[in-house]
Amino acid sequence: MGAMHLLLLTLSLLSLSTNAHNITEILSPFPEYKLFNSYLSQTKLDGEINSRETVTVLALNNAAMSSLAAKHPLSVIKNALSLHVLLDYYDGAKLHQISDGTTTSTTLYQTTGNAPGNLGSVNITDLKGGKVGFGSAVPGSPLDSSYTKEVKKMPYSISVIEISNPIIAPGILTAPTGSANITAMLDKAGCKTFAALLGSTGVEKVFETAAAKALTVFAPSDEAFKAAGVPDLSKLTNAELVALLQYHALPSYSPFGSLKTTKDPISTLATNGAGKFDLTVATSGDEVTLKTGVGSSRVASTVTDAPPLCIFTVDSLLLPEELFGKAPSPAPGPATATSPAPAVSTPTPSPATAPSPVFSPPAPPMESPEGSPSEGPSQSEESKSDKAAADVNTPALCKALLTVSASVVVSVFLA
Ligand SMILES: *[C@@H]1O[C@H](CO)[C@@H](O)[C@H](O)[C@H]1NC(C)=O
Ligand SMILES: *[C@@H]1O[C@H](CO)[C@@H](O)[C@H](O)[C@H]1NC(C)=O
Ligand SMILES: *[C@@H]1O[C@H](CO)[C@@H](O)[C@H](O)[C@H]1NC(C)=O
Repeated sequence: MGAMHLLLLTLSLLSLSTNAHNITEILSPFPEYKLFNSYLSQTKLDGEINSRETVTVLALNNAAMSSLAAKHPLSVIKNALSLHVLLDYYDGAKLHQISDGTTTSTTLYQTTGNAPGNLGSVNITDLKGGKVGFGSAVPGSPLDSSYTKEVKKMPYSISVIEISNPIIAPGILTAPTGSANITAMLDKAGCKTFAALLGSTGVEKVFETAAAKALTVFAPSDEAFKAAGVPDLSKLTNAELVALLQYHALPSYSPFGSLKTTKDPISTLATNGAGKFDLTVATSGDEVTLKTGVGSSRVASTVTDAPPLCIFTVDSLLLPEELFGKAPSPAPGPATATSPAPAVSTPTPSPATAPSPVFSPPAPPMESPEGSPSEGPSQSEESKSDKAAADVNTPALCKALLTVSASVVVSVFLA
């Protein structure tokens, strides 16, 4: 009992230490990055940056940023700016010590699932005369941006450096033509059952209207509908089915990074008038779990992230308490009879299952390499095999050990 409390306390202290930096705050004293900072917030890349343990932000001054922002929609700007967030630590000194003078670094764009080959990586090359060039890692791309100066560093968690021009990967500025066809995307992502229900109930239209302003969809996979214990949806009234489907969407643009930093319960499209129909978010390392009060479901992958629309797949149906909750509530009879909790809920990451393969236990959950599929390569794979990996991991290990020992000291003190 006491040991369990100690463990839980230690784990909660560890998770408190994950949001060590706030990019909005770091850039706010610098008027020259006002536009860049504003676009990080509008695209919600700020949440992604803040939730990362080791990042380098390649900042653009107002002139460079306006050249990029002038003629593109927000979804394109988001893709382009995602290429300016390196999932590794580079300050001025490290840029000038690149082994063999050239390397590539993975970026946030790599984690979107839209980046085949080298499209999501950046080439950093130490040019003659102390100049460091940046360009897309796609072979043959020009190195037409260069390192200007350090803006802010917090080794080895975040470094902000200024570069002269936007890094443009081939094709990254091409906006998808036409409006997004949500049903088609869901079909392709293995969510045919969900897509068919949206069509047959007319909720598809509701989603399409919402998507023009802001919409996030959590689409259960076809497997989720076949799982044991899923309530018999044919027993629901039409209004209940509509509420259930609308419960799988938010009237906001909430990409993965924003979800990861969400603390308060979030409203869904089903939230209005009677019943609250909200969701809570639990984060463990790179894994995000949605909790309904009846069960929980892991956010499995990103289907699209194009502001103001975001679509994720989830492992299980989200069953709102208002329809499937506690026995005394006027829930539909058959649904209550097949109490969904045990079969539908995805096991929440517990201390016992929290993976910690990078360091010897107890490693902090945020160092977990078990990223969700949407998150692409994990921290440990992100650093390529060059000596950069060693440079980054050694301080990271020290930091992890320090965090652990600090937490243990506090736990012992409190006990
Ligand atoms: C980061 O800083 C900005 C500006 O100070 C603030 O509005 C925002 O809430 C902060 N974000 C987090 C996650 O603390
Ligand atoms: C980076 O780009 C330069 C110039 O195109 C190229 O010579 C170099 O091999 C590239 N570096 C890597 C690591 O791909
Ligand atoms: C969207 O895609 C579906 C399935 O591919 C198709 O049946 C439907 O007509 C499309 N809707 C629009 C508005 O293009």
